Amino acid sequence: MATANSHMSLLLLLLALVALTPSTSASQNLSLNLHQLLQLLGFPPGLIPDPVESFSISLVGLLPPTVNFTIHFEEPCYVQYVIPNYFAPVFTGQITFGKISGMIGHKDQFSSGEWIDMYDVTVVGEDLLFEYATTNLTYNRAYFEEVKTCTYGPLLADHSNQLISQLPMISAE
Ligand SMILES: *[C@@H]1O[C@H](CO)[C@@H](O)[C@H](O)[C@H]1NC(C)=O
Ligand SMILES: *[C@@H]1O[C@H](CO)[C@@H](O)[C@H](O)[C@H]1NC(C)=O
Ligand SMILES: *[C@@H]1O[C@H](CO)[C@@H](O)[C@H](O)[C@H]1NC(C)=O
Repeated sequence: MATANSHMSLLLLLLALVALTPSTSASQNLSLNLHQLLQLLGFPPGLIPDPVESFSISLVGLLPPTVNFTIHFEEPCYVQYVIPNYFAPVFTGQITFGKISGMIGHKDQFSSGEWIDMYDVTVVGEDLLFEYATTNLTYNRAYFEEVKTCTYGPLLADHSNQLISQLPMISAE
């Protein structure tokens, strides 16, 4: 489906966005661009909720066009799709057509009550395959079309906290 031509136009678009994103004054309209960007990359626009405080992308590969993203939420963001979702104030990962990978700062709450890290999302036809630290789930993309709004809540421990907890105590704050 993704032909050489569509790769080329996507690449040009991503380059344009990379050139544009350093201008922080446009932050009012960045969340709109983020949802459009998701759609251009084959994802439903509501996969990431509003309000996004800011986001930036950097090009890390050309074939296929691949960018790393950093999304900032003002506070820890909770939103319910099928199950409860959590986005850390700093949410990062890599995105290319039909695939988001290496996510840090996104968890879902399972019926056990436990929050499990989500690492990858892959478009599989009309479905999205979500890969977690311990399992996989598949949901129809229709659940993620509507752009939902965050409810703010407590910060959850993340990967880096786990690593930091194994080091001698060095407080940064
Ligand atoms: C955001 O976009 C809307 C509609 O395109 C425009 O009217 C508004 O001025 C923009 N706001 C900023 C801060 O750029
Ligand atoms: C891009 O993001 C991926 C996944 O998060 C990470 O493994 C990689 O080191 C990043 N690359 C650069 C150049 O930042
Ligand atoms: C999740 O899906 C990936 C990709 O299809 C597969 O490699 C992996 O083994 C699956 N993991 C589980 C726990 O089912």
